[in-house]
Amino acid sequence: MWNKLKRWLSGSGQADAPIAIGRENIPEHIAIIMDGNGRWAKRRGLPRVAGHHAGMKAIKRITIAADELGVKVLTLYSFSTENWKRPVDEVEFLMKLPQEFLALEIDELIRKNVQVRMMGWRDNVPAHTLAAVEEAIERTKHNTGLILNFAFNYGSRLELVTAIQTIAEAVRRGELMPQDIQEEHISACLLSADLPDPDMIIRTSGEIRISNFMLWQMAYAELWFTDVYWPDFDETMFRQAVSEYQRRARRYGGI
Ligand code: IPE
Ligand code: IPE
Ligand code: MG
Repeated sequence: MWNKLKRWLSGSGQADAPIAIGRENIPEHIAIIMDGNGRWAKRRGLPRVAGHHAGMKAIKRITIAADELGVKVLTLYSFSTENWKRPVDEVEFLMKLPQEFLALEIDELIRKNVQVRMMGWRDNVPAHTLAAVEEAIERTKHNTGLILNFAFNYGSRLELVTAIQTIAEAVRRGELMPQDIQEEHISACLLSADLPDPDMIIRTSGEIRISNFMLWQMAYAELWFTDVYWPDFDETMFRQAVSEYQRRARRYGGI
């Protein structure tokens, strides 16, 4: 308490100190479970969809912050295979957000050399949503900067089931013996096949769970949780997460 007061009196309060991030050891792949949009809106007496709308600004902020730090892949969990259970109006609203976001931001994403991707199932997604996403993917496919990977209509268990089916087919055709199945075969059949595993998973909104997100890929990811609702998540908090990541010792089972 006394130390805190002294720091405050001397004007070097920790809250104002810039967050130290080393240039080395930047997480290559950060994946974010963007949660809390509905509660953010409810707290303001607004409809839930207002929270989803506000969440788009956070997506922009964090994309810029990740790009500036030199992160290679930013995966954003935007719609899960379980989110179809929500009321039709809310689902319809969520299906309109990609085109709204991309219409606003695509030029800047192109300027920043960002490559847009979608990790999820195309079926069930309305044609208007898919058209906007595919256009952004096409227009940015040669970009070599940050990979902005939207986990949209994504679910990890369905991803694993599909991978197992693909491998079982290969076994049935006699191309692979069951005893020869390796971790690499499974990784190669996932929707994230050509991406590195996430180094860090961030979840906003105070929920301490994974909600069917990248279960296989997160085997050794560093987990970071905050009570802040997604629309309030900002660059400073993002940098705090990365700074904490850099202070952790990743042992991968070693010592
Ligand atoms: C996250 O916010 C966005 C999606 C899951 C699409 P929520 O909509 O889950 O917000 P809360 O968790 O109900 O507050
Ligand atoms: C996870 O959030 C899915 C996304 C962020 C897109 P949910 O709000 O759907 O997860 P639960 O229901 O709280 O587990
Ligand atoms: Mg939620």
